[in-house]
Amino acid sequence: MSKTLQAIRGMNDILPEQTPIWRYLENTLAELLDGYGYSEIRMPILEFTELFARGIGEGTDVVDKEMYTFLDRNEESLTLRPEGTAGCVRAMLEHGLIGGGQVQKLWYAGPMFRYEKPQKGRYRQFHQMGVEVFNLPGPDIDAELIVLTWRLWKKLGLADSVTLQLNSLGSSEARARYRDALVAYLQERYDLLDEDSQRRLTTNPLRILDSKNGGTQALLVDAPTLHDYLDEESLAHFEGLKARLDAVGIRYEINQKLVRGLDYYGRTVIEWVTDKLGAQGTVCAGGRYDGLVSQFGGKPTPGVGFAMGVERLVLLLETLGLVPEELNNPADVYICAFGEAAELAALGLSERLRDALPGLRLLVNAGGGSFKSQFKKADKSGARYALILGDDELTKRVVGFKPLRDDSEQQSIAWDALAEHLAACLKQA
Ligand code: HAM
Repeated sequence: MSKTLQAIRGMNDILPEQTPIWRYLENTLAELLDGYGYSEIRMPILEFTELFARGIGEGTDVVDKEMYTFLDRNEESLTLRPEGTAGCVRAMLEHGLIGGGQVQKLWYAGPMFRYEKPQKGRYRQFHQMGVEVFNLPGPDIDAELIVLTWRLWKKLGLADSVTLQLNSLGSSEARARYRDALVAYLQERYDLLDEDSQRRLTTNPLRILDSKNGGTQALLVDAPTLHDYLDEESLAHFEGLKARLDAVGIRYEINQKLVRGLDYYGRTVIEWVTDKLGAQGTVCAGGRYDGLVSQFGGKPTPGVGFAMGVERLVLLLETLGLVPEELNNPADVYICAFGEAAELAALGLSERLRDALPGLRLLVNAGGGSFKSQFKKADKSGARYALILGDDELTKRVVGFKPLRDDSEQQSIAWDALAEHLAACLKQA
């Protein structure tokens, strides 16, 4: 017997009952970003492996353990993008869009791929909606990114369910000095570290700060703290950011252990976290990456951005019962037609209604059927009105107009008056 075909573990179908929530989220964010002057960019899903190795950094979990990398037929090493920032920077450089100091405010949405252990909120193909800004070095734009995210939470009804964690990683020199101090401290306690942290001590010591191991966390209580090593400019930048968040009343928690899993960050890093989703509670994360463009061979160019996990936001909306009711109502009108002549007339009539009422959600019965079965389908479709066309209505050039969601009587409406009548009814309801 042949094996049933299945999707790859951690890669999910998004079924028709879920796609309205996805579109609702994507449209809400796209509309909001439009209002702040951000433009959409679409990058390829496949890039040369080197882009991510150089951008995200060797020694990070993403590059060392999680990338979908393969050789193509030309023996080139390609990787399915694990995130969007590196590709976005590549696109900006390749098209000469940031080298002259031009400000770019961009957003993107799409699938990302990481070979992680699948669990609730963590998948191997997942989706991000991300924002990147180039050539604005100050804390004003860091604040704008947070403010617009906050506005999204408010629009979605999530404002009370997420909290903002904030940190500054300082300049690369400050970070290097801190790293040395941290390594020296932990080296003396090497045997007490968990295995993962022992490995990270040489590959990526700052990541030890967000170790989930209780013993390691206990050791970190007396470890040197990052902010004691921050440079003046980074401190001023951080103060500028906090002042702006205070001015608009956005609450935050300063978390000196927030270091992020990708190497390109410096200064501001942020995470929006919820306690409603279990272990995978970060719904949006990002920060400043002023060194990344020059690392790719471009002129030094400030960059800052974030990405949100769409699956996690969908889960959160569902968990909290915040999916708007109207998303579940796919139709306004259902046309039932009996007999061939009525079917022909129904088609013509439906197209006239679509011309007259753009945006109308109109279903035309397909596949024939008795009065009873068509009526059942009309009811099941969620439509508010059924239009009925049989021989009798054809002769009189009318339709039976039957409200399906209340007890009102069926009426007879002339074809010529139908669009106007329908518009008035829909407006009223
Ligand atoms: P990240 O923290 O790796 O950052 O991912 C951003 C968000 O994507 C996470 O907070 C989470 O919501 C979602 N996410 C990540 N991995 C998974 C997964 N396996 N399954 C489901 N959701 C996931 C970045 O990717 C940066 N490029 C963000 C950024 C943009 N920084 C600056 N600009």
